[in-house]
Amino acid sequence: MEDENGPGDARPGAEVRDSGDARATDGGTAITGVSAATAAGAPVSVWATGAAYASHGGVAITGYVAGDVRVTLPSPQSRSVQDSVLPGEQRPRLFGREAEISAGLDVLRRADGGGRAAVVVTGAPGIGKSDVALRMSRLAAEQYPDGQFHINLALSTGPTDLVSSILHALFPPEPPLPDRRDQQLALLRTTLADKRVLLLVDDIVSEEALLEILSVDGPFALVGTSRVKLSGLSGLVCLIDLGPLPAAPSEELVRSVAGPGRLTGEQTAALSAACAGHPLALHIAAAHLARRPRVNADRYLPEITNPDRSVKALVAG
Ligand SMILES: Nc1ncnc2c1ncn2[C@@H]1O[C@H](COP(=O)(O)OP(=O)(O)O)[C@@H](O)[C@H]1O
Ligand SMILES: [Mg+2]
Repeated sequence: MEDENGPGDARPGAEVRDSGDARATDGGTAITGVSAATAAGAPVSVWATGAAYASHGGVAITGYVAGDVRVTLPSPQSRSVQDSVLPGEQRPRLFGREAEISAGLDVLRRADGGGRAAVVVTGAPGIGKSDVALRMSRLAAEQYPDGQFHINLALSTGPTDLVSSILHALFPPEPPLPDRRDQQLALLRTTLADKRVLLLVDDIVSEEALLEILSVDGPFALVGTSRVKLSGLSGLVCLIDLGPLPAAPSEELVRSVAGPGRLTGEQTAALSAACAGHPLALHIAAAHLARRPRVNADRYLPEITNPDRSVKALVAG
């Protein structure tokens, strides 16, 4: 069953032809065509003889179809992308990381409505990937006026599959997404083909899943974070690997969390060195001391550096 436009080539308003022993039930080219045009929200003309049905997202041509059928699909506005759903700005200040943020921004801004832009921030847990990716996304938001979406795969209570997670973010609250993989991808392709959206995806674990998204073209941006190095993708995405924070921003971080006057310059430097530029450890250690004004910082420091006690000393609270 071939339609004249070929699979995936249905344009809004295109005619999808199906004739003879029509089997446009699941995954036929006619369905691909209808899905594509459905996502674009334009009227679709389906010409079919024989038993055929095509359905997508609650809009369906069902049952026995003979002859021309004209279906008017819902306006794209009702399911179009929303305003920013990036987390709010009440986060603590970000220290350092200027070079990394500017490298990512170069890629996100250079795209300027052309092809897809992809940046993935990698590094150890707690090193600052999410904060850096969020900052970059906020700074690039103007370039992606159709919306910015945050998809946190680690926190997801629903699907952790990347394609369906992105579709759920783009089409809230819960539309009936197509079941089949190729139909979901077709919907994602048509949605992203002309949308200048930014997708911030936290905690990507699979190179294959990311590759699937990178096969989609359009003027959108993907900003990801991953604990995995993903070095196999270095030619396809801008990979930014976060190392420890240098001493100066580490110390600024400690001062800002511990509060003015809580630590001497020497103690601040010693604490930063003891946490080896790891932002989460710096936060926890400085917060520990801020909450216990009577604890002598000089006594706390050896606990952090003692391999037998450091984990206990750095437990939040
Ligand atoms: N450069 C930084 N300046 C200030 N705080 C930071 C910095 N990097 C990370 N943090 C803080 O450290 C914690 C861990 O950062 P996060 O971005 O969640 O790490 P990751 O995503 O790599 O696990 C968060 O509380 C975050 O706000
Ligand atoms: Mg994170």
